[in-house]
Amino acid sequence: MKAVLAIDQGTTSTRSLLIDEMAKVRCAAQIELKQYYPADGWVEHDPEAIWRDVVATACEALEKAKGLALDITAIGIANQRETCVLWDRESCKPIHPAIVWQDRRGADLCRRFIDEGLEQEVTDRTGLLLDSYFTASKLAWLLDTIPSARKQAEEGRLAFGTIDCFLLWRLTGGKVHATDATNASRTLLFDIAKMAWCPDLCRMFGIPMQILPEVRETDALFGLSDKDILGLSLPIAGMVGDQQGALIGQGCLERSDAKITLGTGGFAMLNSGGDICRSRHRMLSTVACYSGGVASYAIEGAFFVAGAGIKWTRDKLHLVASAAETEAMARSLTDNGGVYLVPAFVGLGAPHWNPSARAMLTGMTFATGPEHIVRAALECVAYQSADLLSAMALDSGVRPGELKVDGGMVANDWLCQFLADILDLDIVRPANIETTALGAAFLAGARTGVWTALPDAVSHLATDRRFSPALPRAERGRLLAGWREAVGHALGSG
Ligand code: G3P
Repeated sequence: MKAVLAIDQGTTSTRSLLIDEMAKVRCAAQIELKQYYPADGWVEHDPEAIWRDVVATACEALEKAKGLALDITAIGIANQRETCVLWDRESCKPIHPAIVWQDRRGADLCRRFIDEGLEQEVTDRTGLLLDSYFTASKLAWLLDTIPSARKQAEEGRLAFGTIDCFLLWRLTGGKVHATDATNASRTLLFDIAKMAWCPDLCRMFGIPMQILPEVRETDALFGLSDKDILGLSLPIAGMVGDQQGALIGQGCLERSDAKITLGTGGFAMLNSGGDICRSRHRMLSTVACYSGGVASYAIEGAFFVAGAGIKWTRDKLHLVASAAETEAMARSLTDNGGVYLVPAFVGLGAPHWNPSARAMLTGMTFATGPEHIVRAALECVAYQSADLLSAMALDSGVRPGELKVDGGMVANDWLCQFLADILDLDIVRPANIETTALGAAFLAGARTGVWTALPDAVSHLATDRRFSPALPRAERGRLLAGWREAVGHALGSG
């Protein structure tokens, strides 16, 4: 049976999976990734650790596959997006730790450009906002801070890449310096209408264009893996940002298909087909896929704290020993007791984009107990999702017929039902929640004959469970009004 090696290099872990032609995961390996917080608002990864983990998990998965009679046709890569690596072309060594998407060190530069009135032009070109979440201000910081980096960059001795690009470079033994359009579209340097790097934006951020990778289609034949690294030479035939990967892995190939991934944070995406939907509500427009010379786009909204809020109740408040306990705690209450958590621990993402707002628990009384706080940490995931979905609906004029969900949090049935109730939308949980890896596998497999095309690949997807709205309209309105009031307090705190 044919199969694809999917590498899912995420923010907190690196995973390699072998996915067969029935879209089944046949074997997998995973290693947690260490996070470094060298200063307030800074987040770094060790690129060498990322590389070691990719090789180790891929080799482990391939080893486990021995005896399964799989004919492995290709490698597909899905990756944490926006994270910035700068390396020496000669030695292949990064000149600094990777600056992670969550890192805020580029905030001052972005603020300066906003004050100069440049945001609209940047948004028109890139579909993004002038925020340090995206790559450009991180790369500018590296070039301005590391001694002689700018000179070396101008001399063509350095290469820049997001994680996909760095892994491709290493997997091909330094032969290929390329990225795909979904990853390029997260840098703030890429014109999503022209599908090309934008010289004006590079000039604005002070980025010499010779350090940029070539941008290829999402399912391009990027190169062959070096046999000495994984023990076999395979075509790398798909590279995709992990949220776009999940969109494909959920089968959201048509306009108005939507998914939300609830992991550490929440990432909602609505497929807008061949149209770039220009947001009036501070959502993002981004490349969903670029294949066969045709780009498809998505509207995206992200909030920073979903599962991270549950982690906080576990690790800092010690209210639960494991995330699995939260479901029973939420169910033990008949209502939320008026308690809301606004999880602005690192500011608020879309649609507020307020980096200085801080988290708040509101509405507490002497009747408030641990269950209320845990329930509030779950409920706020649904409220934030509702804020994103309504902004997307206003932008696109489209309300999806259902919302596909994935990510670690959707194992919680109570949360899925509450999402359906608050969004007033059917919530569909897939049988296989490895959607990110599936997306990478589908792209690479469709390119190398495992499937005829993406629709053939996604025809193998199955649903685990559908949750339908059951909450009276008035009750939903009351809960959302309470949430909006709480958010107002948190925004006032920033
Ligand atoms: O934009 C950041 C996103 O790609 C990170 O996703 O799943 O690695 O946390 P994840």
